[in-house]
Amino acid sequence: MTIDILTLFPKMFSGPFSESIIKRAIEKGLVSINIHNLRDWATDRHKTADEKPYGGGAGMVMRVDIIDKALSTLKSKVKSQKSKVILLTPAGKLFNQKMAKTLSSYSNLLLICGHYEGVDERVRKLVDEEISIGDYVLTGGELAAMVIVDAVVRLIPGVVGKKESLKSESFSFTPSLPHSFTLLEYPQYTRPFEYNGMKVPKILLSGNHKKIAEWRAEQAIKRTKKRRPDLLKKI
Ligand SMILES: C[S@@+](CC[C@H](N)C(=O)[O-])C[C@H]1O[C@@H](n2cnc3c(N)ncnc32)[C@H](O)[C@@H]1O
Repeated sequence: MTIDILTLFPKMFSGPFSESIIKRAIEKGLVSINIHNLRDWATDRHKTADEKPYGGGAGMVMRVDIIDKALSTLKSKVKSQKSKVILLTPAGKLFNQKMAKTLSSYSNLLLICGHYEGVDERVRKLVDEEISIGDYVLTGGELAAMVIVDAVVRLIPGVVGKKESLKSESFSFTPSLPHSFTLLEYPQYTRPFEYNGMKVPKILLSGNHKKIAEWRAEQAIKRTKKRRPDLLKKI
């Protein structure tokens, strides 16, 4: 998979993609992430990519013509049919694990990070999808892009070593349920066996894998019912 990110602040991306799972996925050649500075497509001396809003009001708005030029260049380099241009915006569709899974099957993703007051309304006509990562306003789309890249890249086959760990995690865990239902993950424990009077449930030391699986499924259902009953609504 190739991921292109269009931003006014490319330096923001230097940390998150050079550590841990994403770093290894890049090294293994499973994903390539290219950060592009939108100002490279600006034509004036000051490399301006934003202007004051028509009609007045606070802040600056990112220009449609500069974004369109950048998209044309980047899209011309994409060979695969399975590509998607995504605008990060609080007005977009709320991001979730199902969307991450769908996006992980694409060959190319192009993410546009807004900043300041956001992008000119006409940019919406140039994209395939608009995504929000939550009902709050960030300073820019850069952090949202990082969240999406992280959630998507770890689902690319081969990125996370053990497939099992993806199957049993929150929003993917479906113990003996149809796949449209997903639960939060069951409680996990490691050493020490007892800490400040809190003990690890004995069943986990029993070595009985069938009973452990049953206990985990039960715990996942209980936890989901208590914390996220909305996930169980259809059952
Ligand atoms: C300060 S915000 C602009 C907010 C915009 N004026 C509004 O009220 O909807 C700047 C940029 O951050 C990004 N952004 C902010 N919150 C976001 C969210 N919840 N999800 C995705 N992107 C977000 C978008 O790219 C947006 O253009």
